[in-house]
Amino acid sequence: MSATPLPTAPLGTHGPEVGVQGLGCMGMSFAYGPVDADASRATLERALDLGVTLYDTADAYGAGDNERFLSPFFRAHRDEVVVATKFALSIPPDDPTRRVIRNDAPYIRQAVEASLTRLGIEAIDLYYMHRRAPEVPIEETVAVMADLVREGKVKHLGLSEVTASELRAAHAVHPIAAVQSEWSLFSRDIEARVVPAARELGVTLVPYSPLGRGFLTGAFASAETLTADDFRRQQPRFTGENAAVNAALLEPVRAVAKAHDATPGQIALAWVHARARVHGLPVVPIPGTRTPARVTENTAAVAIELTADELAALEPIAGRVAGDRYADMTFTSAGRE
Ligand SMILES: NC(=O)c1ccc[n+]([C@@H]2O[C@H](COP(=O)([O-])OP(=O)(O)OC[C@H]3O[C@@H](n4cnc5c(N)ncnc54)[C@H](OP(=O)(O)O)[C@@H]3O)[C@@H](O)[C@H]2O)c1
Repeated sequence: MSATPLPTAPLGTHGPEVGVQGLGCMGMSFAYGPVDADASRATLERALDLGVTLYDTADAYGAGDNERFLSPFFRAHRDEVVVATKFALSIPPDDPTRRVIRNDAPYIRQAVEASLTRLGIEAIDLYYMHRRAPEVPIEETVAVMADLVREGKVKHLGLSEVTASELRAAHAVHPIAAVQSEWSLFSRDIEARVVPAARELGVTLVPYSPLGRGFLTGAFASAETLTADDFRRQQPRFTGENAAVNAALLEPVRAVAKAHDATPGQIALAWVHARARVHGLPVVPIPGTRTPARVTENTAAVAIELTADELAALEPIAGRVAGDRYADMTFTSAGRE
């Protein structure tokens, strides 16, 4: 453990306390260019040393590869880690390149068994519905998830990219520990309805892509410089003219970073923690990285306190971002609200 333990936050009203920042593991297998298994394994161990306990994966990340990759780490540290995974993005047998959103009982039942087998653990600590299939009432989906809790396969329930009304309906069936949605200096749509509903219900927010998929760190200024298979090439705000507009928005982030002798990425993370304090609810952002040095840098961000003037300087950024966060916004809460 580090000399200064990472503060903790609760996952909902019934869930465990976890390090106030988790680790997004998606990029270790999928989405963001070439992977390096040794560096990723060292990153996982470094994160644990720093007090990071919530580790985020999904069955869809590399079609099961990410869960399989993480399994030895989770098994070696089973009592120290909180394992979060997700279901809903099914692979049709006739076309492995496509994803179909499934929230129905038969699908959930086979998905949880497949995840447990790949992870090699007896129960998933936090099981999320990854995406919403609107043709299935959310009450039915959560009733199946609640059965998994009663059967001991899953300990706590989460939902990703749900609207406030979907969250309320779900929470009435079974307590929801966490809502995972995109939340960053560039993506603030959930602050209007989802965050207030989570606060009212005692649900913890787990912001994904808090570094704007790396863009807020300044690590890349246009997805066109990334490898051909990089998922960010499909996201409207990282290509063409949008990317140039958005890169210019980082100026105030750099200025605040300089004042704190910090990096722009650390300011982006400190901002998410600061906004959660304004809204009065617990958050556990899950920045993703595959290098030990970056997980150290990202974890150190929780100690940065932004002043009111700094928050004011960062306030206009999200309203000026060019391009949506996904090409098809119907998969997000904002696209259905
Ligand atoms: N529920 C959902 O629908 C959903 C959607 C997307 C993501 N997620 C989850 O959320 C996690 C985090 O989101 P994300 O990975 O999309 O985006 P993110 O955390 O905003 O950014 C990750 C990117 O930033 C880079 N990075 C990280 N730390 C850095 C640093 N200190 N300096 C420079 N670059 C840095 C990473 O590169 P390196 O890896 O090379 O360091 C990676 O390319 C994922 O891993 C996944 O578990 C969930």
